[in-house]
Amino acid sequence: MSASPQGCHPEDRQPDVAQPGQAAVIGACRSVTVTSISETGWWDTGRFVEEIAANGGKTACQWEMHFDPDNAAGSCSLVEVEGLRGETTRILLDAGWNRDYMAERFRATGVDRLLAAGAIDFLYLSHEHLDHFWGIEAVLALAPDITILAPGTLSEAAAAWLAGGSFPQAGIANRVPHRGKLTRLLPGGIHRLADGVASVTFDVPIWLDVRGEQSLYVNVADEGLVCITGCCHQGVVALVDYAIDHLDAGRRLYGLFGGLHIAPLAPLTEEQRETVRALGRYGFRKIAANHCTGAPAIALMHELGYPMVGGSGRDGSQGTDHVGNGDAVRFAAAAD
Ligand SMILES: [Fe+2]
Ligand SMILES: [Fe+2]
Repeated sequence: MSASPQGCHPEDRQPDVAQPGQAAVIGACRSVTVTSISETGWWDTGRFVEEIAANGGKTACQWEMHFDPDNAAGSCSLVEVEGLRGETTRILLDAGWNRDYMAERFRATGVDRLLAAGAIDFLYLSHEHLDHFWGIEAVLALAPDITILAPGTLSEAAAAWLAGGSFPQAGIANRVPHRGKLTRLLPGGIHRLADGVASVTFDVPIWLDVRGEQSLYVNVADEGLVCITGCCHQGVVALVDYAIDHLDAGRRLYGLFGGLHIAPLAPLTEEQRETVRALGRYGFRKIAANHCTGAPAIALMHELGYPMVGGSGRDGSQGTDHVGNGDAVRFAAAAD
């Protein structure tokens, strides 16, 4: 590994910790619209699985693994929150993997113009897995000063990558150092990012020697809570139970968007089938699962009659049973 000498100096932000027995109030917004810029992590799952095995398996360090860039795509969503007074907060959730592919997806969805105009409030990194993070150069080429909110578990390698580091073993280099503010949101409580928007960092071990993932909770007035994820390595049950146990808005669940990490690489196990069945007990009224949720898990959700949001099946997304590349989902009061 080699890193730029200027480096970046992350700032740690402590979470708010509610008193025992008290649920945190995060405010409310009018609506949230989530656009899938790309939910295609990689093109060929069989090849991705083979490459992980050839690189030492799921416990090996991703920064020392070499993947064929032609199989790389990436996960990234745009989260647009409309406040109660009409103000908009824009969050780019993750940066994808293949920088050229991501630059093309940004062009196709207009995110390139938003980044260049400084109209995206922050880049929110769910976790540092390659398919969410190695495309960072496509973001920084358009907005090198963007504020980045990373999980408090961010590794030294990831910080070096943001600062313009290169990893010869992995065959990757970030040619555009990040020049803006980098804040690490520490685990252990709730971070309010805007009215009605909160983030929680889950300190969990993840494949490929990564640690920690953070997820967003957005409270839509009159409707309830929307949970938004990158990969959800903490598990969808942990994600939702956290809201029920710690957020006042968790008393009424409304929607779910993103990768749920149930069966990303293989058929469903019985335990994974049980996770899908457990999801049905929460009463969500809109489920937009994609990315690492896995096709068999999404098929089972449809079979069980869950309120699934479909997609257009274009630009590399396979099938119309889930929200795909370029598709947007709006969570708002029914009258809106
Ligand atoms: Fe992922
Ligand atoms: Fe991941």
